[in-house]
Amino acid sequence: MREMRIPFGTITITDKTKKLILDCLEKGRISGGKYVREFEERFADIIGVKEAVAVSSGTDADTLALAVLHDIGGQRGDEVIAPALSFVSTGNAVLHAGFTPVFVDIDPETLNIDPEMIEKAITGRTRAIIPTHLMGKPAAMDQIIAIAKKHNLIVVEDAAEAYGATYAGKNIGTLGDMGAFSLYVAHIITTGEGGIIVTDNTQFAEILRSLRAHGRGCKCRQCISNTNSGFCEKRFSNREKGDIRFLFERIGYSCKMNELEAALGLGNLDLYGEILGKRYHNLRSIMEQFEEFSTYLWTFKEESCERIGPHAFPFVVKKGAPFTRDELMLHLEHQGIDARTLFSSIPTQCGGYEFLGHKIGDFPNAEYIGCNGIHIGVHHDINEKDIDWFLSCLRNFINEREHR
Ligand SMILES: Cc1ncc(COP(=O)(O)O)c(C=O)c1O
Repeated sequence: MREMRIPFGTITITDKTKKLILDCLEKGRISGGKYVREFEERFADIIGVKEAVAVSSGTDADTLALAVLHDIGGQRGDEVIAPALSFVSTGNAVLHAGFTPVFVDIDPETLNIDPEMIEKAITGRTRAIIPTHLMGKPAAMDQIIAIAKKHNLIVVEDAAEAYGATYAGKNIGTLGDMGAFSLYVAHIITTGEGGIIVTDNTQFAEILRSLRAHGRGCKCRQCISNTNSGFCEKRFSNREKGDIRFLFERIGYSCKMNELEAALGLGNLDLYGEILGKRYHNLRSIMEQFEEFSTYLWTFKEESCERIGPHAFPFVVKKGAPFTRDELMLHLEHQGIDARTLFSSIPTQCGGYEFLGHKIGDFPNAEYIGCNGIHIGVHHDINEKDIDWFLSCLRNFINEREHR
């Protein structure tokens, strides 16, 4: 057993973060204000979009992006197409936004929604597709966008795990109508807890700002009342409507980011390039050395039209291997390597979805990954020695299992 653990995620707290947090505490300014706005502006710049709207979690980012549909003709109970394999919150977000998830199986070579199966799932009530770029591997966006255009559907990219990923030269998150990122601590840009939606559509951004604050009539990028307790002229500018701060135009949520979280994020953004580079190096290093295990273990490939966002390293136990996924995971955990399953088939392996009436066998590819997939971290505090340790643990385990 190794003393040192290799955790799945890490966080670097910079001096700048500490300074900004102290500033918030000394001034007593905690709820979303100038630091949240600065974080949104810098995030939008990095991704290359006009607008970014910060919220409390990646799940909220998915939920709010989908809830925008209510402003453009979506009705409660309409359908949203989602991959059967994703972190469960992709499915949860569809339900939280008031829609019915229609799951589509994945392509086992990409881990992402199988584009060939999407059109069969479209009905008269379909309003959107929410592809996940699982483990930073871009979904087949050309095909997905072509289908969406043909059927007049909105595309919300679940880009929670896809920082630094590109597809046909474009940043993931900029290909669909909106992109939703998680800022949870294990992700590449983090605010501790948090999420952010990016879009080039100014109208959508205004709706999102209203949605994150109870559906209020306020849509400003930065709230004067929250930044310097100033008097806001817009609040009472419409005599008929009254105070727009207490005018609730739509069913909203309460999922604003606060200044302390934004301070963490601003410190983190200064290191973005460095962190991304180190993580990508780690991911490529493992991918290149993994070939020796290919008899029993599968991993994804990077195609020439894409760059994988270095979120984590996924691998899957192949049929016929002399061990199970859980035996291998237990072994890695005993050797100090934080190993996680590669999620589950949301409709058939996550209990809360039983009400949809699916049965095991309906999503065979997602279910196979649900029983046989693993992922481990590739973060910037992992070095070549850790990678060698991981590979030697695998080697020893497989040798021992082959000769049993
Ligand atoms: C694909 C995917 N979508 C959504 C989320 C939700 O993010 P959060 O945990 O910030 O709510 C995650 C979380 O890791 C995720 O992996």
